Amino acid sequence: MIVPAAALLVAATVPPAGTVPSGGPAAGAVPAAGGWLDAATARRVARNPPLGAVPADRTNRWSDSLDAARLGHRLFFDARLSASGTVSCASCHDPAHGFRDSEPLAKGEGTGPRRSMSVLNSAHQRWLTWDGRADTLWSQAVQPFEVPHEMGSSRRAVLAVVAGDPQLSGMYRTAFGAPVPDAAAAQPDVDAAFAKLGKALAAYERRLVSGPSAYDRWWSSRASGDPSADALLSDAERRGLALFFGKANCFQCHHGALFSDGEFHNIGMPPRGGGMPTDAGRYAVVDRVRDDPFNAAGPHSDDRSGPQARISASLVNSPERWGEFRTPSLRNLPGTGPFMHAGQKETLAEVVRFYSTLEGATQLDHHRESVLKRLDLTEAEQADLVAFLGALAGSAPAEPWNSPPGRNADAPTR
Ligand code: HEC
Ligand code: HEC
Repeated sequence: MIVPAAALLVAATVPPAGTVPSGGPAAGAVPAAGGWLDAATARRVARNPPLGAVPADRTNRWSDSLDAARLGHRLFFDARLSASGTVSCASCHDPAHGFRDSEPLAKGEGTGPRRSMSVLNSAHQRWLTWDGRADTLWSQAVQPFEVPHEMGSSRRAVLAVVAGDPQLSGMYRTAFGAPVPDAAAAQPDVDAAFAKLGKALAAYERRLVSGPSAYDRWWSSRASGDPSADALLSDAERRGLALFFGKANCFQCHHGALFSDGEFHNIGMPPRGGGMPTDAGRYAVVDRVRDDPFNAAGPHSDDRSGPQARISASLVNSPERWGEFRTPSLRNLPGTGPFMHAGQKETLAEVVRFYSTLEGATQLDHHRESVLKRLDLTEAEQADLVAFLGALAGSAPAEPWNSPPGRNADAPTR
């Protein structure tokens, strides 16, 4: 059964992600082995802790600016920034649907080749989008404006809308201390202002983090030695957990606080409608992200020689990257299907069946993905894994960020 995202992503009275509740585990404490949790599973579980605070982004000096986030909040929901005036970021990243939509392939000014992704917790990612074609949250945020099938606009047209709206242009000036460049501005000034819009959007998106899931509560509670911790998960969820970190091997790629290694893999997922894959995934964008003027090493970055800049500048492509996609986070999935990079799987049960049978899987490179073997899980085991994925759904981000901005200049204080 699929529970609507809205029912799971309820704003609950829980501490924000990453804060350890008082009486919580001592620093460094992890769930101890014992009972149904054997030593090997406990060691793996320790590598999938609750989400901490979002990491600092030194490439965006406004990343934690409240004024920038307020502007970003407005931009995110503003359809005037698209060619037809009907598509906003929120059209495909709808808070009522876990910051996704329900289409297998994203629909904006046209229909794109990929499934929209949730922006929840994306500030935790090193590479953005299915193929990782952006290396920072702000450099991702400027792209949709100019993608023909997404918002189909241009940087000058977008800046003209901002300049022509007294509220937006005032917020821009407050956040960045300078006015929006006018229509006659030189290209470098236009590009710099466009990057700032991306940085405002990123400042907003950094506030879109989900709160603790049932799994996180169990993890923290068990780490603190609470004898009643296990009651926070159902029997099916506990059996699913043991499979996930045990014989089903899911943790091999879905590890870390996001349940993603942040890396790129080819799991042999056949395209929609079958046949041979045509989407080159990571392979098509490695050179592009390295040479992108909006990347972490580029002229618009505020940390051009930092760690991300060095990684991006030294990227080298290789044919093995063909057909690889970023391991998605497994947090907040129930009710947000269809799944996979082109919406190939309707439900989580179908996803788990695929891993179990590898039915229809395209040829895998034996050297790179030897980890993926047919699991031959029973129906009951598959149901347990689905139940465990359900226990990874957290509460919605704090208001006002989780809703469209009000008509009046709202003044969020967090
Ligand atoms: C037409 C639908 C559509 C619109 C409009 C759109 N997106 Fe997206 N978004 C997508 C799709 C599809 C992907 C995956 C892209 C890919 O892999 O090629 C994505 C990926 C992302 C990601 C990456 C998440 C991650 O975990 O890597 C972020 C962040 C994001 N979009 C933010 C935005 C912002 C900000 C805007 C507005 C400026 C926007 N999107 C407009 C469909 C859309
Ligand atoms: C070899 C690495 C690897 C292993 C092992 C692995 N996954 Fe994945 N997983 C991925 C990648 C990569 C994708 C995206 C593939 C695509 O879209 O083509 C993915 C996609 C998914 C999705 C879809 C998420 C979404 O937002 O669309 C789910 C759910 C999932 N995996 C669950 C699991 C489970 C459960 C297991 C264990 C049975 C598992 N994975 C094992 C790498 C892996």
